[in-house]
Amino acid sequence: MSQIPTYVTAVPNGTEKGVYMAVDLGGTNFRVCSIKLNGDSTFNLTYSKVAIPKELMVAKTAQELFAFLAKQIGHFIETHHGDRFDKDTGRRITESAPEGYQEEHVFRLGFTFSFPVQQLGINKGTLIRWTKGFDIPDAVGKDVCALLQEEIDKLHLPVKVAALVNDTVGTLMARSYTSQGKNGALLGAIFGTGTNGAYVEKLANLKKPLQGDYDKSTGDMVINTEWGSFDNQLSVLPNTPWDIALDKASVNPGIQMYEKRVSGMFLGEILRLAVVDLLKKEEVAFFRDENSSSNDWKSTTNIGSDSSIFTQWGLDTAIMSVAAADNTPELSTLRQELDSLLHVYSPAIDDAQAFKAIAGAVARRSARLSAVAVAGIVLQSGKLGGASEEEPIDIGVDGSLVEHYPYFRDMIYEALRSIDGIGEEGAKRIRIGIAKDGSGVGAALIALVAAGMEKK
Ligand code: BGC
Repeated sequence: MSQIPTYVTAVPNGTEKGVYMAVDLGGTNFRVCSIKLNGDSTFNLTYSKVAIPKELMVAKTAQELFAFLAKQIGHFIETHHGDRFDKDTGRRITESAPEGYQEEHVFRLGFTFSFPVQQLGINKGTLIRWTKGFDIPDAVGKDVCALLQEEIDKLHLPVKVAALVNDTVGTLMARSYTSQGKNGALLGAIFGTGTNGAYVEKLANLKKPLQGDYDKSTGDMVINTEWGSFDNQLSVLPNTPWDIALDKASVNPGIQMYEKRVSGMFLGEILRLAVVDLLKKEEVAFFRDENSSSNDWKSTTNIGSDSSIFTQWGLDTAIMSVAAADNTPELSTLRQELDSLLHVYSPAIDDAQAFKAIAGAVARRSARLSAVAVAGIVLQSGKLGGASEEEPIDIGVDGSLVEHYPYFRDMIYEALRSIDGIGEEGAKRIRIGIAKDGSGVGAALIALVAAGMEKK
């Protein structure tokens, strides 16, 4: 795993104050927000979101993507902070153009960039590789903060990219700011389109040379594990024919192998491949009936040849949540979705049950593998050694999978209880809570730390 030092050396305690901006690039959407930290564990967030055009995810040059991002930041400031923005005369203070915006009117911005980055300082880092369907080779090896700042400057926006943040680090920060407790959170994890975790490690355990400036007084540093690339060589990860097919057809074969078994972007595709394989089996009457007597609705099931199930990425992971949530005897909601989304006409109860069972197995494997990563970090921290009345070991999680897939967290707990070294007692001490807005409030908190370092 990459185990990237983040130059963030402490987690917040809820007393931090100020107004910051944050942007988030990491999956399907680009989010822009401004955050007012109130200093009492609360905050106010103003936010806007735009889908990233598919063609920009695979643009020829990095500049095309970053120009789009800067434009969205411009729109946001114009709409929500008009007082700081004058389109015609606006100038940000830069070394080359000292006239214009007063330094105190320049927003400090936390840039949540949720891809593997070699971090060289709190607002400097070069892209190692793209993940989650992005592929712009021109950007690899470049400093993503500089790319964004350049485009911001072209639009004369009063914004300084102050901090580069992985979404997991933001989640860890947000959890520590908002959750009450003596100690901050240990781990921030994302189980969404992609998956990853960032945790607090002892500086003494770091083996990598650190080039940039950082505060040594806490004795800790947050590490971005990039666990999505755990076991790319497949020594221990399960590997089914559908995992193999998915990887082969992906934009990045052979990498992010753990992520490809765990995160939301891929689960629907694993399920799709397994279902398509079943459909090919003559001897299995799946999504079809011999005649209406074998269909509980006295119809005949068939699947349209135009069904998106026959296309790569044609099965959205969201239908797995519907399958898991539908516990009615007739599975009528799931059957309706199979009809409207996948053009499976008149699915019978046994079709829906089979679909639910396969989807459930794919999701359960994902949750159990997720528990392995969580357990690894908890065991490494040594925090389970203490007495049981000690504070809980706090873990902040975010992402569509953990938020929307029913019982995902319960399945993680079930697996934790059966892991050596954790067990029933250990699992009780681990508190996994949703930490929303990590990429907003978390990034703002890191921008705040960075602003403090600028002054020094
Ligand atoms: C990226 C990580 C990110 C995770 C969750 C992965 O694909 O490599 O940097 O934290 O997705 O968004």
